Amino acid sequence: MQNDPRTNAPATSDAGIEPARDPDAAPGLPGRANYTQFAQRYAQMAPEKPHNALYERPATAALLGEVAGLDVLDAGCGPGIVSAELARAGARVHAFDVTPAMVELARSHCAGLPVEVAQGDLGQPFAWLAEGRFERIVCSLALDYVEHLAPTFAEFRRVARPGALLVFSMAHPMRDWIDTRTHGGRSYFETTRFGLHWAGFGEPKPYVEAYRRPLADIVNALTASGWAIEQLVEPQPRPEMKAVAPRLHAELAQAPAFLCVRARRLP
Ligand SMILES: C[S@@+](CC[C@H](N)C(=O)[O-])C[C@H]1O[C@@H](n2cnc3c(N)ncnc32)[C@H](O)[C@@H]1O
Repeated sequence: MQNDPRTNAPATSDAGIEPARDPDAAPGLPGRANYTQFAQRYAQMAPEKPHNALYERPATAALLGEVAGLDVLDAGCGPGIVSAELARAGARVHAFDVTPAMVELARSHCAGLPVEVAQGDLGQPFAWLAEGRFERIVCSLALDYVEHLAPTFAEFRRVARPGALLVFSMAHPMRDWIDTRTHGGRSYFETTRFGLHWAGFGEPKPYVEAYRRPLADIVNALTASGWAIEQLVEPQPRPEMKAVAPRLHAELAQAPAFLCVRARRLP
């Protein structure tokens, strides 16, 4: 059993360098199996969790900028934390997620706001969405569960208006490779599917599988799909994190756990 090193919690035991394989893990789509285990706990904890609230969300929001009056897609919306923030900032939001429990949580969290929530898979065509619908697309911490990124970026382009912005965040590929508990002895240049028991979301620890791939594969899939990169951010923790999570602050001030990208749809 391994703990997620990104949560700053010590491993309870060392399974060696091979990634853990949970016998109960569902084959196929990892994202839904992951979050079905702890959707409710994620919804309760992510709004305040330092990794999200004082690290990823501010970095992604800064890249996204003003959204008032815009049509925004929140892809892989989880329990709707970002969707609600966007709607309160004046956006009309369409959100989707592959995990039914997350869809329900997002609907409940965004009740009364201009947010519609659907169930959908980032790894399949977004057949229910018309082309050219959105001026902004945000995809926070969900692409790590998609094996092939190019078709997803192509779908983002199809549903985006000319000149639209795509902002996404995902695990930093070097961060996940450099840790012997996650690289599994494999080359940085391979795409690997690995699993970890995440600490930081209570008990029982959810077993979470994700894909890790080289940075060039992320960048090249994006640009080959009709997007131009405007900014790539390796975020710094917010200064307030120092008081509430000093170890995590020190770790993230030393090396990034995530990367955040803003890209513009080419004509
Ligand atoms: C770390 S959570 C992030 C949720 C939300 N974006 C946020 O920032 O709070 C990852 C989300 O991605 C969703 N997800 C995983 N694989 C997916 C897929 N193939 N299609 C759509 N959503 C997916 C999960 O269900 C989960 O809600």
